[in-house]
Amino acid sequence: MSFALDNYRLLGRSGLRVSPLALGTATFGTETGWGAEKDDARRLFDRYVERGGNFLDTAVGYGSAESLLGEFARDRRESLVLATKYSTLRRPGDPNSTGGSRKNLLASVHTSLQRLGTDYLDLLYLHVWDFTTPVEEILRGLDDLVRQGKVLHVAISNTPAWQISRMQTIADLRGWSPLVALQLEYNLLERTGERDLIPMAREMGLAVIPYSPLAGGLLTGKYSRADVAGVASGDGTRKGFNFAALGTVTERNLDVVDILKEVAAEQGCTPAQAGLSWLLHNPDVTAPHYRRPHPRTTGGQPGCPDGGPHHRAASPPR
Ligand SMILES: NC(=O)c1ccc[n+]([C@@H]2O[C@H](COP(=O)([O-])OP(=O)(O)OC[C@H]3O[C@@H](n4cnc5c(N)ncnc54)[C@H](OP(=O)(O)O)[C@@H]3O)[C@@H](O)[C@H]2O)c1
Repeated sequence: MSFALDNYRLLGRSGLRVSPLALGTATFGTETGWGAEKDDARRLFDRYVERGGNFLDTAVGYGSAESLLGEFARDRRESLVLATKYSTLRRPGDPNSTGGSRKNLLASVHTSLQRLGTDYLDLLYLHVWDFTTPVEEILRGLDDLVRQGKVLHVAISNTPAWQISRMQTIADLRGWSPLVALQLEYNLLERTGERDLIPMAREMGLAVIPYSPLAGGLLTGKYSRADVAGVASGDGTRKGFNFAALGTVTERNLDVVDILKEVAAEQGCTPAQAGLSWLLHNPDVTAPHYRRPHPRTTGGQPGCPDGGPHHRAASPPR
């Protein structure tokens, strides 16, 4: 099986062809404290598209990422698949600048189109389910944008399986644009989606697009047991974010990483390569969202000689 970036695959129940690895841009820009400066982000983008990569992921809530991506993509817009997301807070204090509502949807897409410097989005995700907006309002708004030509395909992220299957059924029965992709956190440390979300996506024609395929860096093996207790909350680093905000720097997760390191050594590759291979060889997965490391730190990433740990020893305790 080839995972070359120009070995394109279909995105769920659509005719859109995408690379087997998407380039995530959440860390384009330095607002978070650990993101990439513009020149580094440009190098990451160029390296990805020069190798045939066409699938770029961003969001209205990713600081300057949309604007940077729009600038980088300007000369080759048509050959790229630009995916963005709406529903996270855009203006603190304004209750209508967040959530799934029609008002926020239309304003958010307007903002994204301007920042990306394009008159259409290839893929628009609902970023986070708000447990409030009626699903008919969301689906009808998404379908209106498709009919207006501002959005080509619609998708969803961070929403319970029961709600997505209900939404897809309503869309099908009403002839509205179906959801063609599901973005979820899925990696060797976070496998909750295997129970409901991934089987649901398979049944309902949604491509599975895992985010945080390296668990925010834990699966590279660069965290130690000293990090479990030693990272100050809100210290402005990715490590601090993983520890304090996400709570993923734990003994249990480091136990899994220890096994991953053993498997990677057996296979002659790095833990990061083995972790990515585990996802890439999963037939349910369409395209993990990979955020390459800093362009100066290392060369290639995907690829374990025989495909990595598959689903064997590195599987975490369930
Ligand atoms: N839908 C959603 O709610 C959602 C949520 C999260 C992410 N996403 C999407 O998914 C994309 C990827 O998310 P993510 O950043 O969490 O992915 P990730 O690949 O799990 O984590 C990226 C981190 O791994 C580190 N890393 C990668 N390769 C490495 C290597 N070889 N050696 C050492 N460290 C390495 C990077 O470190 P450095 O930064 O130190 O280089 C970076 O901090 C985002 O850009 C975004 O597009 C979507």
